[in-house]
Amino acid sequence: MSGIRFDAVSVAYGGNTVLDSLDLTVEPGEVMALLGPSGSGKTTALRAVAGFVRPVAGRVLIGGRDVTALPPHKRGIGMVVQQYALFPHMRVEDNVAFGLKAQKAAKAEIPGRVAEALEMTGMAAYAERYPRELSGGQQQRVA
Ligand SMILES: Nc1ncnc2c1ncn2[C@@H]1O[C@H](COP(=O)(O)OP(=O)(O)OP(=O)(O)O)[C@@H](O)[C@H]1O
Ligand SMILES: [Mg+2]
Repeated sequence: MSGIRFDAVSVAYGGNTVLDSLDLTVEPGEVMALLGPSGSGKTTALRAVAGFVRPVAGRVLIGGRDVTALPPHKRGIGMVVQQYALFPHMRVEDNVAFGLKAQKAAKAEIPGRVAEALEMTGMAAYAERYPRELSGGQQQRVA
């Protein structure tokens, strides 16, 4: 079994259960939307996949592998967060390059990887803009 699977996943903050035994399978290539009222646990479910919260019960599987106990950096998962942070004084291309620099990527490969990421997100034409010159969705794509 591949894709992403929630197997009876429960998440609590403090003593407050916000996900109660969630079962859900997302197949490879499938686009899944979680709809629900504000505060119903959608972001919490994504955080459980990325590894930013640890379920109090149940398992999360990615590509058939139980990742429940794995830290985020060992999961190979990307997450576009709801509350993203862009540096207001840096152009789009520099915001995108920031993470690579922080990870100490080889200097020579950074421009190419930035260009590739901007191309993939349809943001190539905006590389030299500042975040305040972008729409909300464009800012989110930069993030
Ligand atoms: N770090 C935290 N500590 C304590 N409670 C939290 C924390 N993060 C979220 N919560 C609570 O957990 C519940 C679910 O939050 P979550 O962010 O998953 O909701 P959501 O469905 O993404 O909502 P929205 O549509 O408003 O983004 C909410 O009641 C929220 O207040
Ligand atoms: Mg949310």
